[in-house]
Amino acid sequence: MDMQIDEETVAGLRQAGLVPADGTIDCRPLTGGVASDIWLVQGAKAPFVVKRALAKLRVTADWRAPVARNASEVAWLRFVAGILPDCVPAILAHDPKRGFFAMEFLPPDSYPVWKNELRSGRVDADFACAVGTSLATIHASTARRIDIAPQFNEDSVFRALRIEPYLEYTATKHPQIGDPLRVLGAGVLGRHAVLVHGDISPKNILVGPKGPVFLDAECAWFGDPVFDFAFCLNHLLLKCLWAPAYAAAYAASYDALAAAYLAGVTWEDAAALEARAAALLPALLLARIYGRSPVEYVEDDRLKAFVRAFAIPLIMSPPRDLSMIRNAWMTALRNDGIAP
Ligand SMILES: Nc1ncnc2c1ncn2[C@@H]1O[C@H](COP(=O)(O)OP(=O)(O)O)[C@@H](O)[C@H]1O
Ligand SMILES: [Mg+2]
Repeated sequence: MDMQIDEETVAGLRQAGLVPADGTIDCRPLTGGVASDIWLVQGAKAPFVVKRALAKLRVTADWRAPVARNASEVAWLRFVAGILPDCVPAILAHDPKRGFFAMEFLPPDSYPVWKNELRSGRVDADFACAVGTSLATIHASTARRIDIAPQFNEDSVFRALRIEPYLEYTATKHPQIGDPLRVLGAGVLGRHAVLVHGDISPKNILVGPKGPVFLDAECAWFGDPVFDFAFCLNHLLLKCLWAPAYAAAYAASYDALAAAYLAGVTWEDAAALEARAAALLPALLLARIYGRSPVEYVEDDRLKAFVRAFAIPLIMSPPRDLSMIRNAWMTALRNDGIAP
């Protein structure tokens, strides 16, 4: 990451009145990003965050994405502010020409990152429940709003950002299940039902005093709600490999998130949505090990083989409910001596 903010962005911040017209800018890069430059800036009034999308993502495999996704992120944050204002940071400025936006800074002492909380064993099922409820509210409030679709990423961009790197790339690595993986990807891409965030991961959720705050909406797309739902559940399963001592707590959070989300599904039959999520989830599990953006904490060959042996049979014959996957996952973790 560049240590200094670029001149173009500084010019835009001056124009927006967020920093003084001259003099040096007090800023430092915020850690964690692979897709964007992101800085914490000491503004004239208060600290704020500036985010600018990168043309080439910082992951091992070459992975490029159009920078206009920055505008999709702003549109998602603004749209959700009208539904659940406490669930997003406020936007302070948007400069589509220079390709950046500025938002309120939510300090980590009162807004820790959920991923860090999970890792440290602070695993609160009530919080997971709130994530499920908020996500369902966002989906329900945007159901059938095809009129808003043009504000967000096009299908081709969502495919390039999510479906290709995860499902299609993984299909090339596992030809024996290539067809079902591609069918799952096409199924997601073919459904235009709600406003999808596209990266509902614990690293993009802050644990705020009033509940979850969602960040990093640059994949936002009008599409299939199942993607957000299964994507987030997948992270709770994967955390069992990261900190096995808390596996039972992660499973309880998985249950809480799933139940809360499904209770909020008003736009379609909840059982049908659950069946789609149960079909997609094993594919996402495999994709976080063999896709273009593998999770950093599953590097051990034994763990990789474990995920492969678990996921492939479920991709070949998909289960219909999420509790079956959870129970099978916990049993497999115990049988392999990975978790107590
Ligand atoms: N408004 C904010 N307030 C506080 N921290 C933030 C804010 N925006 C981003 N961050 C921190 O920076 C990290 C990276 O930001 P994110 O939007 O997720 O960028 P990337 O697309 O690069 O992952 C987040 O995980 C979070 O820790
Ligand atoms: Mg992020």
